[in-house]
Amino acid sequence: MIQLKLELDQLYPFISKDELLAYDKQIISAYRKIYNKTGAGNEFLGWVDLPSEISEDSLDQIIAHARALQAKSEVFVVVGIGGSYLGARAIIEALNSHFGHLRNTNLPQIIYAGHQLSEDYLSELLELLDHKEYSMAVISKSGTTTEPAVAFRMLRTHIEQKYGLKEARKRIVAITDNSRGALKELADSEGYTSYVVPDDVGGRYSVLTPVGLLPIAVAGMDIKALVSGARKMEAMSRAVQKIHGNPIAMYAAARQALYKARKTNEIMVNYEPKLFYFSEWWKQLYGESEGKDHKGIFPAAVGFTTDLHSMGQYIQNGLRNIFETVISVEKPTRELRIPEADFDLDQLNYIAGKRLSEVNLMAELGTTLAHVDGGVPNLRIRIPELSEEVMGQLIYFFEMGCALSGYMLEVNPFDQPGVEAYKKNMFALLGKKGFEDQTTELKKRLKNKLS
Ligand code: PA5
Repeated sequence: MIQLKLELDQLYPFISKDELLAYDKQIISAYRKIYNKTGAGNEFLGWVDLPSEISEDSLDQIIAHARALQAKSEVFVVVGIGGSYLGARAIIEALNSHFGHLRNTNLPQIIYAGHQLSEDYLSELLELLDHKEYSMAVISKSGTTTEPAVAFRMLRTHIEQKYGLKEARKRIVAITDNSRGALKELADSEGYTSYVVPDDVGGRYSVLTPVGLLPIAVAGMDIKALVSGARKMEAMSRAVQKIHGNPIAMYAAARQALYKARKTNEIMVNYEPKLFYFSEWWKQLYGESEGKDHKGIFPAAVGFTTDLHSMGQYIQNGLRNIFETVISVEKPTRELRIPEADFDLDQLNYIAGKRLSEVNLMAELGTTLAHVDGGVPNLRIRIPELSEEVMGQLIYFFEMGCALSGYMLEVNPFDQPGVEAYKKNMFALLGKKGFEDQTTELKKRLKNKLS
């Protein structure tokens, strides 16, 4: 059963149902491009059938390996950037206790590295790892990305010094391309256990490959339930390739209609801090897939009610080029009621006895109406709970929604040519061989900033 509901009643004041349904032709054509593999970037459509094609055997293998790693690790370091870490982090943080790292649990704490170049971050991590039993996964499809490569070089030295070469090799897992890249070569020569990122699955669509599944399993989550959720959404998507009866198509059509109405910024809203990294994953998926040829909706995210006290003002009264997509979780995993006070000094007795989630829900509903009144269309994605099954559905919902959106926008949703620009400049400034031509010109432009 599909447990995710897309509610559009707070879109209709801005875009009528008929206007939305007028996108049906575009949806059908985008679906054709995906299932017939005729659109731009069609060599990267491996994610489409991924949930139904993952075998129970390979899931069992990942689970068994994850258990072995859990048994010897207080900390599990996930080294990767972009699509090579955000999917895992999104699911792990959505399903873990907020304070998992302080609770007494037999499960390793998952720590991330290689997703920036901060010297302080890595030094502090290495210092922590001096005192912790740990293992790690180094994840890079290309095997050449600077950030994870730099972090891994240092972590590898650390783990080899701590455990000796033989044991270190057993504590390192490599997840990379099947045949190319420096990481593949290293993994083969060192004998690390390795997993393959399929050629036809791009980084940001790879959460349901070992890229996401291994770290998620090490964190103690049920990857079979996650995949089962994704399978259901995959089956629905294939069965209903039009707007009516298909929430994914409806979401993609709504985004397109809003974009045409100059709502060029989409803000993903959550009322559960556990969804912070899910929004980060979504931001990468949509930003990297759509932002091309000077087109695309800018994906942003807020966490309410926290950000109602920072970004709320802008959303209510600022430039009217935004719409919100709210992820609303019906049932918290815990129950907590507001106590009655003898002296009602804070004047909260009127909500005494209510669950905190009820107050959170009223904040959500009240905010939506206020924002709609202020000219901000709202889409609402209602999910019953934060569970593996539901998160699996959400992952596939947004992946397919992104591919449809990209094709409707007439961009290639599976490449990221713009990411290279900063890399070229960084390599030139660092003096990498082959980039010398740009070095002088860049240094001239930066003369006051270079010591
Ligand atoms: O979606 C993408 O392809 C990118 O975000 C990559 O995941 C990211 O750049 C990391 O690349 P790699 O896995 O090759 O290190």
